[in-house]
Amino acid sequence: MPVVSGSSARGLAEDLARQLDWQHVQMESRRFPDGEGYVRVPEDAISSVRDQDVVVVSNTFPDSGIVETLLILEAISDVRAGRLASLKGGMDSQDDVGAGLFLAIPYFGYSRQDKRFQKGEAISAQALGRIFAGHCDGIVVLDLHAPVALEGLEVPVKFVSAMPEVAEYLSENVKPDFILSPDKGAIERASSVARAIGCRFSYLEKVRIDAHTILHQPKDLDVEGSIVAIIDDMISTGGTICKASEALHSQGATEVHAACTHGLFTDGAISRLDKFVDGVHATNSLPNPRSSISGGKALARGVRELLDI
Ligand code: R5P
Repeated sequence: MPVVSGSSARGLAEDLARQLDWQHVQMESRRFPDGEGYVRVPEDAISSVRDQDVVVVSNTFPDSGIVETLLILEAISDVRAGRLASLKGGMDSQDDVGAGLFLAIPYFGYSRQDKRFQKGEAISAQALGRIFAGHCDGIVVLDLHAPVALEGLEVPVKFVSAMPEVAEYLSENVKPDFILSPDKGAIERASSVARAIGCRFSYLEKVRIDAHTILHQPKDLDVEGSIVAIIDDMISTGGTICKASEALHSQGATEVHAACTHGLFTDGAISRLDKFVDGVHATNSLPNPRSSISGGKALARGVRELLDI
């Protein structure tokens, strides 16, 4: 079956195709001079996207990724529905092959606006979820910040996590003896890594003042002489990790690492992190300079579950 990618997730789509032993299809994609996107199903892939179920791998980040994801789904839907006539001629219309178009989203942009924090706000994660659900027959999402945001969509949604791969990577390369969740929201993910490795675990309570300022409630962590890995779903400015690392060092941790699924690394985050931690490890859900862990294995688990294969 084809695993299709546009410009945002080629490496991960190839990784997923390898895991599933399927064929990788790269969409033709480019940008017009004004920045608008263009996609096309390559001529030689028309029959494969019609003959079998299709999984599109596309990041909905940054905003241009949202538009490209929709254009890819629309182009493939047209091909599958047999709408093949064009101004430049070519094939006539063909039969509609029906359902079988799935979307695998490695990094779901806007996932942190999962609630209406103040009246008048859009619940962005939910709004985007509804739009994508209207263009495909099922969705797989990797380490979504808060799955509740995509509850009740009109197509099935499978949530998968790369934490088993994060645990395996840390066991082999970092050998931590303590795992820390930097806030309550990451407890489930971080504690699953601690269980998989078989090491101690604790968490901090975080208060976010603004996008660049956070505070942690002071807590005794018992990390004297320990190698600690801080686990989060995503690292953006790095502020959360740097603050947690300060607390760990001040309590005697000998080495501090940070690991996450989504390495956004905005605003000079990498150079900031390099001053506070001994290593930063992320998956390839987004292209990033610290991508050392495969997200393809987790996506493959989700695709198998969604397609029941
Ligand atoms: C929020 O709760 C997330 O799980 C992350 O902790 C957060 O997005 C990290 O952001 P930053 O790196 O900017 O502190």
